Amino acid sequence: MRLLIQNIKCLVQTEVVPKLKVCGNEMSELNTITDAYLYIKDGLITEFGKMSELKSARILGQDQDLQIIDATGRFVFPSFCDSHTHLVYAGSREMEYKDKIRGLSYSEIAKRGGGILNSAKKLHETSEDELFNQSFSRINEIIGFGTGAVEIKSGYGLNPDDELKMLRVIRRIKNSSPIEVKATFLGAHAIPDEYKNNMEGYVDLVINEMIPVIASEDLADYIDVFCDQGFFSVNDTERILMAGMKYGLSAKLHANELGFTGGIQTGVKYNALSVDHLEYTGDEEISALSGSDTMPTLLPGSAFFLGMPDPPARKMINAGLPVALASDYNPGSSPSGNMKLIMSLGCIRLRMLPEEVINAVTINSAYAMGLSETHGSIAIGKVANVFITKEIPSYEYMPYAFGSNLIETVILKGKIIN
Ligand code: NIG
Ligand code: FE
Repeated sequence: MRLLIQNIKCLVQTEVVPKLKVCGNEMSELNTITDAYLYIKDGLITEFGKMSELKSARILGQDQDLQIIDATGRFVFPSFCDSHTHLVYAGSREMEYKDKIRGLSYSEIAKRGGGILNSAKKLHETSEDELFNQSFSRINEIIGFGTGAVEIKSGYGLNPDDELKMLRVIRRIKNSSPIEVKATFLGAHAIPDEYKNNMEGYVDLVINEMIPVIASEDLADYIDVFCDQGFFSVNDTERILMAGMKYGLSAKLHANELGFTGGIQTGVKYNALSVDHLEYTGDEEISALSGSDTMPTLLPGSAFFLGMPDPPARKMINAGLPVALASDYNPGSSPSGNMKLIMSLGCIRLRMLPEEVINAVTINSAYAMGLSETHGSIAIGKVANVFITKEIPSYEYMPYAFGSNLIETVILKGKIIN
């Protein structure tokens, strides 16, 4: 199976010597090739370059099963990598949206039994098949939006059976869709009502009755904790991370969304792959992240939707840190998995340049889900997950035209999907 995309107006995010992530000033650099071709064989990026260098004899000559796409006037990007979602959920929560408009905060809604506990109730009442069907249509939606790799968390189960139900649905998605999927166990997402006055008991349940089963069925790649004000403390987080790490689960943390809680420092201490949200990030947090292997991941969709303060992206980049952006697709704080919109929010709200947001939604978000060796850029040997845009004038036009759907053709693992 071979595919040649030719006459590409501009091939974006090309790499000759692939990097695992880009940091600081490097984030404003973006390699592109104008008037380019991209050659895909057996699902992998096999060759790319200027049209004038297209080895017609070698590529075009091997006639039979070569499919050719003409991309005149169009840009080709590596697919978006969305390293933080909760897209397996039941129903929706637009009634809380109204409460938010009336002025209630995220924590106030949670305290009233809304928020995560509301989704947990709906999920409990939904069969596994129905949960799969609802989630799978979200997967197809984000594929159409240009996403080629996605991390999905559990965390609306909050008891062993329902957490397992969510993780099995994630596995089913992995086995039935061409999108690349990483699964994260987030049993410590909220405290269920039965444990309201027994936080320690719930942490014990996560450690003793959830992690061992999940690990033995190989249902998760990573472990997450909502380490924040009113949710799990640094001490709870450390206990859970240590238990997960015993089973080989690396950490990805929800941290510093609601306050300066020490979550970022805890993530770095346990060598988390990423710490995510980070609305409350100051000098101490930035210095903890400097020189670490932990990817700071910002979720501008949820900060926008909740009307929260924005994280200091510029300060982080100016301090030499890498930054990834992800959608946080979930029913409560970011009911959208549109990564192109996330790029626009990154530019408009976080004051990141178009080049920086493109790096943040491709190579750096691939790193934040442990995939940057195989995804996140146009490099020889990487998985051929790309999309072709409609006719557009420049790559800056992608975040600029924030409401337009500019994605025309999606290719995953070398196959045209839509
Ligand atoms: O990432 N911050 C915690 N969890 C989710 C929200 C989930 C929900 O409200 O359902 C988040 O924003
Ligand atoms: Fe989240």
